[in-house]
Amino acid sequence: MKVAVTTERHHSVDHLSLLPVDFAWGVATSSYQIEGAIDEDGRSPSIWDTFSHTPGKVDGGDHGDVACDHYHRWPQDIEIMKRLGVTAYRFSIAWPRVMPGGFGPVNAPGLAFYDRLVDALLDAGITPFPTLYHWDLPQVLQDAGGWTNRDTARHFADYSARVAERLGDRVTDWATVNEPLCAAWIGHLEGRHAPGIADVKAAVPASYHLLLGHGLAAQAVRAAAPGARVGIVHLLNPVEPAGDSAADAAAAARFDGHTNRWWLDPVFGRGFPADMLEVYGVDLPEQPGDLETIAAPLDWLGVNYYRPAVVADDPDGAPPYVRETTPTGRRLTGIDWVIEPDGLEGILTRVAEEYRPPRMYVTENGSAWTDTVDGGGVHDPERTDYLEGHLAACASAVRRGVPLAGYFAWSLMDNFEWAAGYAPRFGLVHVDFPTQRRTVKDSGLRYAELIRSHRERT
Ligand code: NOJ
Repeated sequence: MKVAVTTERHHSVDHLSLLPVDFAWGVATSSYQIEGAIDEDGRSPSIWDTFSHTPGKVDGGDHGDVACDHYHRWPQDIEIMKRLGVTAYRFSIAWPRVMPGGFGPVNAPGLAFYDRLVDALLDAGITPFPTLYHWDLPQVLQDAGGWTNRDTARHFADYSARVAERLGDRVTDWATVNEPLCAAWIGHLEGRHAPGIADVKAAVPASYHLLLGHGLAAQAVRAAAPGARVGIVHLLNPVEPAGDSAADAAAAARFDGHTNRWWLDPVFGRGFPADMLEVYGVDLPEQPGDLETIAAPLDWLGVNYYRPAVVADDPDGAPPYVRETTPTGRRLTGIDWVIEPDGLEGILTRVAEEYRPPRMYVTENGSAWTDTVDGGGVHDPERTDYLEGHLAACASAVRRGVPLAGYFAWSLMDNFEWAAGYAPRFGLVHVDFPTQRRTVKDSGLRYAELIRSHRERT
């Protein structure tokens, strides 16, 4: 692929006709963040049940016990997707529902839930894009070491095979792991996410086994469902130094390694970056053949993009000795994330040029604000602006030759935002948690309009 070098910017939605005719217009969610029903139909506890019920771990003491009650309200949620006119839905499958023991027998009612969901989506003309792991590891596996234990990668492949055997006649596109970066680094290095470990000696093996799990699951899904298209979902952040010092420039280079290259290089057959191995100072738990497994060719790469990271040197911190900062003079979301649509165009173009995935999706993109229902509606011009800017950035990326096949807004609806609880609202649809009432926000109405006009024009 040839990517044109240009500095022109087209941040207007007038250019959305550049997006391909069969562009997937999607919304995304994940199981623990929306389903609730944590002890129904044989589901076992996940590490997020344990973590969120540990005092002090989640803001406001929030947890996913009920969340959006999607486990019971999914027909209504599909109706809302139909109203929005989306053509694709990215959701995740809860391992502890399907295989409550972590490995071994399948729990039929758990798998049946996703079977019904897939059928209803297809009936609604919406393409299902399931993700096999979005952070809700069965607690029983954590008790045996979780992702620091190589067996977890093997169990993940077995569980993935069972799901693909059941749904593979109707599902084509599968994501293995969502943001292994966060599972490894936030969960095992910073300790701010489940399982709440802060130790580089756990984090590096966890990162390795998450990628090994991806590779083994890719093989397992392809064997169970011939014709499956398999991808991985990475959170990617362009990195900027906070100041002009050489130390901050070096910190930015290290953070790029930590956040981008560590995850992209091995998946695209380049192995783990040697400079970062030195920074972490921990050996990889490598066995012969692993790197080939991790580098199994992808059918597509999913990119989650929210913001650039602005970083400073932090010699007293933990590896990679970098501190994220909130810059002044930049537009910020309601949770102080820098708003930078150019960053999306830049990261898509960089990945397309350097790694050449055959196809790419923006598997998540969105912004959090504190929305309220006002006169029956939710007026969120900031989210609409963010959405339009980033869609326009997608169109610019396509114009520059990026093989972008779809966009999934994060999120369909407000949900459990991990350690931040329910306060940050990312949805295109507002959820009033006490009543579970859903209200499509103005941004959701605008998304519906953009989808309609793209589909009419192409
Ligand atoms: C990425 C994660 O995949 C998702 O679970 C999370 O809610 C969003 N980022 C927003 O932080």
